Amino acid sequence: IAVLIIGMLLAYLLGSISSAIVVSRLLGLPDPRATGSGNPGATNVLRAGSKTGAALTLAGDAAKGWLPVFIALQSVHFPAWMVGLIALAAFLGHLYPVFFGFRGGKGVATALGVILAIHPLTGLLVLATWLLVAVIVRYSSLAALVAALAAPIYLALWHPEPWLIAAVGVMVLFLYLRHSTNIQRLLQGTEPRIGEKKPAAN
Ligand code: G3P
Repeated sequence: IAVLIIGMLLAYLLGSISSAIVVSRLLGLPDPRATGSGNPGATNVLRAGSKTGAALTLAGDAAKGWLPVFIALQSVHFPAWMVGLIALAAFLGHLYPVFFGFRGGKGVATALGVILAIHPLTGLLVLATWLLVAVIVRYSSLAALVAALAAPIYLALWHPEPWLIAAVGVMVLFLYLRHSTNIQRLLQGTEPRIGEKKPAAN
């Protein structure tokens, strides 16, 4: 149990490092919490005008989910239920970061990283789903919502480990709650499409 608590703590601390804020500072971009939707995530860094920054944010936030789960899966100390808890710790670090007043992102990239670590093919299918929906509808949030809903289904097809499917299910639940304003805007037709600069503060 001590090793689980230490693992979860480290995963949470890693998850708490907001790639969007760090990358924006390094590249001299505006603070993502103060522009566009106000969300510290890759979509909003893109909205601030930097494709490189958005790509780095996506990679950094995905890595935060991938690394702890990948390490836990390699270790004999962690059965599947513990891996699930470590995944959730990293994910919740991103949503509620200790370093940034517990106001974090929406969890899309970090969840993707977690899924890539659990089962790479499922991760690639989720990413492909996101890309397909994003190209068709040009809403980042809607692409994330569709891909997130598909994620536990894809995972269950290929990797029938109930604890890990449950962990992904919990992440999807949080992800939907975090997108409540996006869902409202999508329903009202006011959600900005990818490439539109119009601010949509949360
Ligand atoms: O990944 C976050 C995305 O789904 C929505 O971000 O900035 O448009 O609220 P944003």
